[in-house]
Amino acid sequence: MKAVRIHRYGGPEVLQLEEVPTPRCGPREVRVQVHASSVNPVDYKIRDGVQRAVVWIRRPFTPGMDLSGVVLEVGAKVKGFSVGDEVISTPSHLRQGTFAEEVVVRADELARKPANLTHEEAASLPLVSMTAWYCLQKSARLQPGQSVLIQAGSGGVGTAAIQLARALGAATVWATCSTRNLELVRALGATPIDYTREDFRQVAKGCDVVLDSLGGAALWQAVETVRPGGHVSCITPSFPQLVERFGPYLALPAFGAWAGWAMAKPLVTRRVTVRFVTRFAYGQTLQSLVPLMESGQLRPVIDRVFPLEAAADAYRYLETGRARGKVVLKVR
Ligand SMILES: NC(=O)c1ccc[n+]([C@@H]2O[C@H](COP(=O)([O-])OP(=O)(O)OC[C@H]3O[C@@H](n4cnc5c(N)ncnc54)[C@H](OP(=O)(O)O)[C@@H]3O)[C@@H](O)[C@H]2O)c1
Repeated sequence: MKAVRIHRYGGPEVLQLEEVPTPRCGPREVRVQVHASSVNPVDYKIRDGVQRAVVWIRRPFTPGMDLSGVVLEVGAKVKGFSVGDEVISTPSHLRQGTFAEEVVVRADELARKPANLTHEEAASLPLVSMTAWYCLQKSARLQPGQSVLIQAGSGGVGTAAIQLARALGAATVWATCSTRNLELVRALGATPIDYTREDFRQVAKGCDVVLDSLGGAALWQAVETVRPGGHVSCITPSFPQLVERFGPYLALPAFGAWAGWAMAKPLVTRRVTVRFVTRFAYGQTLQSLVPLMESGQLRPVIDRVFPLEAAADAYRYLETGRARGKVVLKVR
């Protein structure tokens, strides 16, 4: 079977489509025929080697952390899934490998594919909707009637987060974007803030929750924006910069020291809770989002679809930082 392989860290040119052996399925695992996957910024960070502070993977490896496909084989101890089932998943960073014709996934990282979506549509949702859920529901405990600011509302996470915030009952959802994306963001249910013309700190002043996907200075601006007692979920903890500055071994302790301060200061000075959020791979949580996908409350927003053979082009496009929603890989 064919898979994208990475033998050494580097730019898009290190991605190679190769013939590899069929992966073996363990007792608690499921082998899935991948129909579609999608590319996320973490994929190019891992490819570059700048995510090594937290993600150590032996090379060569197959990247990819989203899938929609069909079950081909079920491990002896797996319950609840059968050969032929249509499934979705966002496997853990450490068990990635969905940019391939087949992949083995832990059964507890699977959910049933939304019946109303194509594989390409379904593959665009797992990682970003799980990230949005961890930020808004698990970390911020967003309540009906509250107000939220979503940074980069036109991106992969942003398009999912706007819709999830609405589905969770947020009364006001602001989302930052550039002028060309105002209509997209509005159509998803947010009040757009054009970051090229407006200052989000003024517009969304006093909101209950901020989802910060930009990091750096934007994190401190989020702390300024949110009301006293409010919550900031940050998903961009600047590992690439930390790896560059301290190297892969010291980047994590350096982050720990910095993050302790970054969480303590807003709490002491403004009673603002800052949390660095990461997406986990739990299939049950993903399954809980499937009804929202099937009811149309969490819709796929797809910018471009590339064939698996053009994975390097898909990475190049996402790396422009200008994608509107998701970049999908069609595998079959
Ligand atoms: N911690 C986690 O578990 C986790 C999970 C998922 C993602 N992330 C991280 O979150 C970040 C965002 O991910 P993503 O998938 O949403 O990325 P993405 O899809 O590549 O984001 C692209 C979007 O960002 C917008 N954008 C760029 N600069 C902006 C700015 N200054 N203000 C507002 N919008 C801006 C662009 O809109 P315009 O063209 O209109 O500027 C574009 O639509 C990445 O760093 C990623 O690694 C972390």
